[in-house]
Amino acid sequence: MPSLSFFTVLLIHIGLFVSFSSAEDPNIFYNFEVSYITASPLGVPQHVIAINGKFPGPTINVTTNNNVIVNVRNKLDENLLMTWAGIQQRHSSWQDGVLGTNCPILPKWNWTYNFQVKDQVGSFFYFPSLNMQRASGGFGGFIINNRAIIPIPFANPDGDITILIGDWYTKNHTALRKMLDEGKDLGMPDGVLINGKGPYQYNTTLVPDGIEYETLEVHPGKTYRLRIHNVGISTTLNFRIQNHNLLLAESEGSYTVQQNYTSLDIHVGQSYSFLVTMDQNASSDYYIVASARFVNESNWKRVTGVGILHYTNSKGKAAGPLPVGPQDEFDKTYSMNQARSIRWNVSASGARPNPQGSFRYGSINVTDVYVLKNKPPVMINGKRQATLSGISFKNPSTPIRLADWFKVKNAYTLDFPTRPLTGAPKLETSVINATFRGFIEIILQNNDTKMQSYHVDGYAFFVVGMDYGEWTENSRGTYNKWDGIARSTVQVYPGAWSAILISLDNVGIWNIRTENLDSWYLGQETYMRVVNPEANNKTELPIPDNSLYCGALNKLQKPQDISSATSITATRSKIFFVLLMIIYTLVPFFH
Ligand SMILES: *[C@@H]1O[C@H](CO)[C@@H](O)[C@H](O)[C@H]1NC(C)=O
Ligand SMILES: *[C@@H]1O[C@H](CO)[C@@H](O)[C@H](O)[C@H]1NC(C)=O
Ligand SMILES: *[C@@H]1O[C@H](CO)[C@@H](O)[C@H](O)[C@H]1NC(C)=O
Ligand SMILES: *[C@@H]1O[C@H](CO)[C@@H](O)[C@H](O)[C@H]1NC(C)=O
Ligand SMILES: *[C@@H]1O[C@H](CO)[C@@H](O)[C@H](O)[C@H]1NC(C)=O
Ligand SMILES: *[C@@H]1O[C@H](CO)[C@@H](O)[C@H](O)[C@H]1NC(C)=O
Ligand SMILES: *[C@@H]1O[C@H](CO)[C@@H](O)[C@H](O)[C@H]1NC(C)=O
Ligand SMILES: *[C@@H]1O[C@H](CO)[C@@H](O)[C@H](O)[C@H]1NC(C)=O
Ligand SMILES: *[C@@H]1O[C@H](CO)[C@@H](O)[C@H](O)[C@H]1NC(C)=O
Ligand SMILES: *[C@@H]1O[C@H](CO)[C@@H](O)[C@H](O)[C@H]1NC(C)=O
Ligand SMILES: *[C@@H]1O[C@H](CO)[C@@H](O)[C@H](O)[C@H]1NC(C)=O
Ligand SMILES: *[C@@H]1O[C@H](CO)[C@@H](O)[C@H](O)[C@H]1NC(C)=O
Repeated sequence: MPSLSFFTVLLIHIGLFVSFSSAEDPNIFYNFEVSYITASPLGVPQHVIAINGKFPGPTINVTTNNNVIVNVRNKLDENLLMTWAGIQQRHSSWQDGVLGTNCPILPKWNWTYNFQVKDQVGSFFYFPSLNMQRASGGFGGFIINNRAIIPIPFANPDGDITILIGDWYTKNHTALRKMLDEGKDLGMPDGVLINGKGPYQYNTTLVPDGIEYETLEVHPGKTYRLRIHNVGISTTLNFRIQNHNLLLAESEGSYTVQQNYTSLDIHVGQSYSFLVTMDQNASSDYYIVASARFVNESNWKRVTGVGILHYTNSKGKAAGPLPVGPQDEFDKTYSMNQARSIRWNVSASGARPNPQGSFRYGSINVTDVYVLKNKPPVMINGKRQATLSGISFKNPSTPIRLADWFKVKNAYTLDFPTRPLTGAPKLETSVINATFRGFIEIILQNNDTKMQSYHVDGYAFFVVGMDYGEWTENSRGTYNKWDGIARSTVQVYPGAWSAILISLDNVGIWNIRTENLDSWYLGQETYMRVVNPEANNKTELPIPDNSLYCGALNKLQKPQDISSATSITATRSKIFFVLLMIIYTLVPFFH
């Protein structure tokens, strides 16, 4: 019998059997069994969301052009969707795993994602997208490697380490949801986890005994690629390693101009790769720190993640105070200047011309301009909601992409305003009518006192500017029109704006959302509908065979046989999985 090992990451190339996407590109299979396990990352036992019994989940590690096939089985007691943050899902928002494109996977059901990772190389992550579930885990890294023939702009590192950092509550996601439903704020998090583990006991007053902490073992003189992701709820974290420089090399799929930082602010939902050389004399271990930013540090001391960098020739334990982060409490420009210093290496490989035929985004004419405004939560119909431009998004009962395909009427409206509404805030399923092959400028204006970050699915966008104050047309004069970084998650400082440009070459329904889980849960998101007016079957993949149905299309959904999930039926994909199981059970005999 395939035991638990069957449910650990399956990574089998069976190029011979390919029938899904491109015949020559290998299929990479993963099985994700999503369930609760009990863990005590901060010393308090709680239910966390595990994948194949692991918290955090396994790292997906694939190569450009691979077809990635992930069978997600929902063993939670509530609906589930996995989303792949930063993975562009070219021509297939069917696989995006948010409620605007997919019906949820019901408890005990499974659904097999099948997508090709195209034209992307870099560091991304996945997480469960519904109902605050990310606050309980379910996340993991997602690496896309370059094909061997495509060079990378640095020497091959000696090791590749994924580090997931994030603020954490000892309350689970259902308890946090309840607080938000009751109109409360979540308050200060209980700590910061590094790879699902609590802080090293650097101070016996602040950190209780018996907390399991993360240790990275490294060899002296070697250079490692550290891929850091902020998978947390709402806290910007400053990342640093005692006595070590962080050479920034990549952010969400773009190679950056390589620069050393002693620490970097990583906002919720953002990913970075650093090249770190182990050039110290290992007189002791070194602290790895992820500490809360823009808060009163004397109150937030316990909201600090601490791990250990351990050289194989280390002479002793890390001791003494943590390395200090930026001391800029009254300098609101420090962090923004640091963000502006992150620039795209325009001569590195990986750049792809826009459909307009230009590598230079600064010379393309903008076709549409949207100002999206964040304000503090408001009451709508007696319930506390978060809005974007005065609209709190109401999730459709029939996903927008399915509604379009089956011509379901009134599932949503295509009237998201280009400028923030000035009247009473509304609760609506209002979507941006985007122009296929257009070049859209989006200004994110943060009129709240808290840090925000925003993510766009389906695309990498150019970050062309950010500044304090209200954005005006004149602000365009400050834009970086040459080497702004292309990424998928941008921070917006309180009382400030960030401007992004997106080349709309990817047909589909694409989520634009806050990465702050509480604001997202309270409705701060919308979608961009990108449709090719010439229906020619070349710019978008058709609906997948295994599509789930819900809402107005519920009658199309066949019940799932949850008792024998592997029974052989006529469908090819099922035969695949049976084959896979056979191969996998045989594999141990050949080792
Ligand atoms: C979350 O915590 C609440 C309160 O402690 C508890 O009632 C509930 O069962 C927990 N939910 C999960 C999924 O563990
Ligand atoms: C559920 O998993 C089985 C294999 O265990 C697979 O054959 C089937 O296609 C999956 N269902 C969906 C809807 O993807
Ligand atoms: C940019 O990429 C090129 C090409 O790989 C590389 O030679 C160069 O060192 C990089 N420049 C910086 C500043 O990182
Ligand atoms: C990812 O897979 C490649 C082989 O395809 C391997 O060389 C590399 O070490 C793996 N990376 C990680 C982080 O496991
Ligand atoms: C531990 O933290 C407490 C509270 O911040 C502080 O008063 C104390 O000096 C720290 N102890 C050490 C040894 O640094
Ligand atoms: C970064 O710092 C390291 C020392 O840690 C140094 O060797 C390297 O030259 C620096 N690189 C740049 C681009 O400044
Ligand atoms: C190297 O080790 C010695 C003790 O062996 C210590 O005094 C010195 O500060 C260390 N240097 C660095 C850069 O860590
Ligand atoms: C930070 O918090 C401490 C303790 O509550 C308080 O004494 C101090 O005034 C606060 N600092 C600022 C700048 O608000
Ligand atoms: C951009 O618009 C200007 C006029 O506003 C026009 O002269 C120019 O040719 C356009 N550029 C491109 C690349 O379309
Ligand atoms: C969406 O925009 C297109 C032009 O790009 C326009 O023809 C269409 O009428 C718009 N749809 C709605 C509902 O406004
Ligand atoms: C919010 O907008 C109002 C009106 O434009 C302005 O007076 C206020 O300073 C803004 N607050 C922040 C934090 O941006
Ligand atoms: C697109 O493909 C579907 C079948 O997958 C077919 O019914 C339809 O006619 C095609 N449309 C065009 C414009 O080729």
